Amino acid sequence: MKNLFNRFRILVHPLCLFSVVGVLTLALIYCHAYVPRVVKVKQVVPFLHATHTDADKVNMPCQGCHIGAERGAGAGMPPVSVCLDCHRHVLADDTRLLPVHAAANMDSPIYTGEPLVWKLSTPLPAHVHFHHSRHAQAGISCAECHPSPDALVQHTMSSCLDCHRKHALPTDCDACHH
Ligand code: HEC
Ligand code: HEC
Ligand code: HEC
Ligand code: HEC
Ligand code: HEC
Repeated sequence: MKNLFNRFRILVHPLCLFSVVGVLTLALIYCHAYVPRVVKVKQVVPFLHATHTDADKVNMPCQGCHIGAERGAGAGMPPVSVCLDCHRHVLADDTRLLPVHAAANMDSPIYTGEPLVWKLSTPLPAHVHFHHSRHAQAGISCAECHPSPDALVQHTMSSCLDCHRKHALPTDCDACHH
């Protein structure tokens, strides 16, 4: 019996070790391949798009906050006054919204007028030229490039070129690079 046990140990132990190493290696390869290139920056206010844009929630259009997306190169970030339209009443005493009141609610005792700055997670490098309104005017929806603004995707050169090639649009370097 003891003999059998020893054999068993000899057989199983290295096998076990092997499979553990195997699984770890696979996990590493998997994680490496799927690590998102974008890490969403931490904002002063923990804003969630889903609450504000989902059809069964507030159902606000993207352009309600990102006015530039149809008019100019940059989509832009919403002024805090937009938030106050609702948050003067909705979640009015919620601590998550204190920076909003401090920045823009003159009726609030904590008002300072100190602007609330939203940080960007996915800016393009300075050598790339992108213009929102040209794409909006061509009827391309926000979701084509921003499928879910709460889980940002990295804009890559191939994501631009795939669509440009498909629609016989400019692919010469000068179209996108300064
Ligand atoms: C109620 C206002 C509001 C609405 C409506 C809204 N956004 Fe935003 N959006 C924000 C705020 C505030 C931020 C900055 C905080 C953050 O990153 O989540 C932001 C950030 C973003 C960013 C991040 C850019 C970056 O590089 O960090 C994208 C992309 C974006 N919004 C796209 C959209 C799209 C697409 C829609 C429509 C589905 C939409 N937004 C609707 C307020 C809004
Ligand atoms: C059209 C109305 C409206 C506007 C404009 C609006 N919100 Fe909201 N917001 C809501 C509602 C409704 C909720 C959900 C309230 C609840 O949970 O009871 C909410 C929830 C939130 C929350 C709690 C977390 C979450 O998303 O569920 C935060 C933080 C917030 N909003 C920040 C903002 C900021 C910052 C802006 C401006 C960029 C903004 N909101 C603009 C209506 C609005
Ligand atoms: C063809 C792809 C594409 C479409 C369509 C598009 N975006 Fe963008 N968006 C981008 C790229 C690329 C950036 C990064 C721009 C930069 O850094 O100059 C960006 C950046 C943003 C940002 C960050 C702020 C800024 O101005 O850079 C917001 C907010 C945003 N987009 C919202 C929108 C909304 C809302 C729509 C729909 C009306 C939209 N986008 C349509 C590609 C797109
Ligand atoms: C989903 C499709 C799609 C994607 C993705 C896309 N584009 Fe476009 N792009 C278009 C369309 C359609 C036009 C033509 C608009 C017009 O007719 O004026 C255009 C036009 C342009 C133009 C103007 C070209 C010219 O000389 O007239 C530039 C620059 C541009 N895109 C850059 C970009 C960049 C940079 C990206 C990636 C960050 C990108 N595009 C991603 C569809 C797309
Ligand atoms: C339709 C738009 C578009 C066209 C056309 C285009 N690029 Fe790009 N390119 C981009 C975008 C967007 C990025 C930034 C990608 C990123 O940040 O990952 C980029 C990045 C690059 C980079 C930097 C790569 C890196 O990893 O930082 C080089 C080099 C480059 N492009 C060369 C070219 C050359 C050469 C051509 C012509 C053959 C060209 N591009 C045509 C959109 C374009």
